[in-house]
Amino acid sequence: MSVARRPGSLGLMTTEFVPDPETLKQIRRMRDEVSRFTMEYRFAVDEVLTKVSILREEFLHLHRYNPIEHVTSRIKKPESIVAKATRRGCSSSLASIREHITDIAGVRITCSFIDDTYRVLEAITRQDDVRVLSVKDYVANPKPNGYKSLHAIIEIPVFLSTGPVAVPVELQIRTIAMDFWASLEHKIYYKFQGEVPSHLVKELSAAAEIASELDRRMEQLHTEVHGSREPDDESNIPEPTGEELVRLLVALTQQSG
Ligand code: GTP
Ligand code: MG
Repeated sequence: MSVARRPGSLGLMTTEFVPDPETLKQIRRMRDEVSRFTMEYRFAVDEVLTKVSILREEFLHLHRYNPIEHVTSRIKKPESIVAKATRRGCSSSLASIREHITDIAGVRITCSFIDDTYRVLEAITRQDDVRVLSVKDYVANPKPNGYKSLHAIIEIPVFLSTGPVAVPVELQIRTIAMDFWASLEHKIYYKFQGEVPSHLVKELSAAAEIASELDRRMEQLHTEVHGSREPDDESNIPEPTGEELVRLLVALTQQSG
């Protein structure tokens, strides 16, 4: 391996790392391995996104109702994967990362109502090719800071030319209100690098209460308009007329005023 100095684009001298052929071969092999590794997670995310989009369309078709507001996904950046492996005290070999870090692929599903979050989780996890590794219900048991969401680590097969690989994907399912709160909390947490001032912690906790209250009210409102939220019932219930909606809104405004 050697170091060469030559003029950069601005005419200044830059230092360039010139690996010998053997090192170059090793670097290329590692790069290919890493790219194959992350590819598996990308494919797994694609599989989950397909499942979600099928559920969404089928629900809409059968029940004239869409329980899913939006879906996002991400693959953890290599530097975050290595940082997490180091934090967890596991080796940063690909085999060890594959075994211990289960949130490299993540899919977040935002639903309109609380019971839709459970319904969507159930619809995904009961599929034959999905293996559920863990479920955490932070909706029924919120974190002390007020964080609410349904989490599941699922494993799904990705069919490569060399055969199937079971790849873990972290699912986060929450309502719009929970999502709004979590993204604000995340920004605040990052801004203060985890040392959030106590008055903001209190404010966040109060905001979490309000978000939960909003979810409850929206659910009630929806039930009042559509009747029972069982999908089979819904398919038989006619959409409310504009006049009915206005009457309901007026009644609600009078109630809260
Ligand atoms: P890591 O934080 O990924 O190490 O996960 P964990 O093993 O502690 O699992 P958990 O299910 O508690 O959290 C997984 C993910 O949920 C996190 O990476 C965040 O994306 C999200 N999450 C968990 N707790 C909070 C929280 O208090 N606030 C926000 N905004 N997001 C959270
Ligand atoms: Mg995580």
